Amino acid sequence: ATGLHNVAVSKGKLYIGTATEMYKLNGDAPYAAIASDINEFGMITAENSMKWDATERTQGVWTFTGGDNLVNWAIANGQKLRGHTTVWHSQLPSWVSSGGFSAAALTSVIENHTTTLIDRYKGKINLQQPPSLELTIFIFTDSWDVVNEPFNDDGTFRSSVFYTTLGTSYIATALHAARAADPAAKLYINDYNIDGLGAKSTAMANLVAQLKADNVPIDGIGIQGHLIVGAVPNNLQANFEQFAALGVEIAITELDIRMTLPVTPEKLAQQKADYKKVVAACKAVPACVGITVWEYTDKYSWVPGVFSSQGAALPWDDNLAKKPAYDGIVEGF
Ligand code: XIL
Repeated sequence: ATGLHNVAVSKGKLYIGTATEMYKLNGDAPYAAIASDINEFGMITAENSMKWDATERTQGVWTFTGGDNLVNWAIANGQKLRGHTTVWHSQLPSWVSSGGFSAAALTSVIENHTTTLIDRYKGKINLQQPPSLELTIFIFTDSWDVVNEPFNDDGTFRSSVFYTTLGTSYIATALHAARAADPAAKLYINDYNIDGLGAKSTAMANLVAQLKADNVPIDGIGIQGHLIVGAVPNNLQANFEQFAALGVEIAITELDIRMTLPVTPEKLAQQKADYKKVVAACKAVPACVGITVWEYTDKYSWVPGVFSSQGAALPWDDNLAKKPAYDGIVEGF
């Protein structure tokens, strides 16, 4: 098999995906050709256009244009959708983040946002297995990151407007609304710095165990995977296994492995080894269903804009040429 998605499927995984956005696809034909290649990517995540500030910037006023166009583009390519994201403290419009709602009112705001957004992209069909039988005439929403980044790095709950108003109950509220809106979609909680063992991963495991004990619908743990070259944890597999033991699937949802610029051959070689390490850990754990890269090319990565003097985090370079990291992904399978 050639192409990242094909290699993943040939090794028993469901997909390799990428985050993207319509404005890049429309404006850059060579970029779009790779992003739309089903051999490389079987799944698409909207990098920004399904977030709260993009979809419901004013209460009850919905903007679906960006998400709809991306979904239609994915349908045309036979690709599926990872929904991202319904309840998150960031990219949240001020009418929500300003905190003027009572507990009851904020609960209904969460329910309404989650229900409306997930209902919009509800799949027609959910054929997860076997991949060889999937028909490209149907798109479906494979999974939703229903709750994004609920934790601080020390494993305590992040003091978002949701948590400060509602405590942890906002998580169950969102998950129940999501299940009702699209019973076929896999519902995830997604966070960063939960790649290896540690306080934050333990907190995630404890939360999911509690949700299961409370009969709250939860299907998966999303491991964002915003990692650093040369600093990828060594206990990825043990951590993935502790998550899998809870009876949920896991996915690596936003993988990128950044380096301090400038790029050197040595850093590219280390990055290749790091990608291989992450992929191998996913491969080794049956509950790890797939991997999404957070953009596929350095040309459009969010990293340089956010992490000072860091970049070159993805498997294709600025000129859309494959880097050693690409081979690292293939070798990891
Ligand atoms: C990032 C996007 O890539 C940027 O374009 C945007 O400006 C900020 O958000 N965790 C997440 C993603 O869950 O939604 C974030 O995406 C990266 C961190």
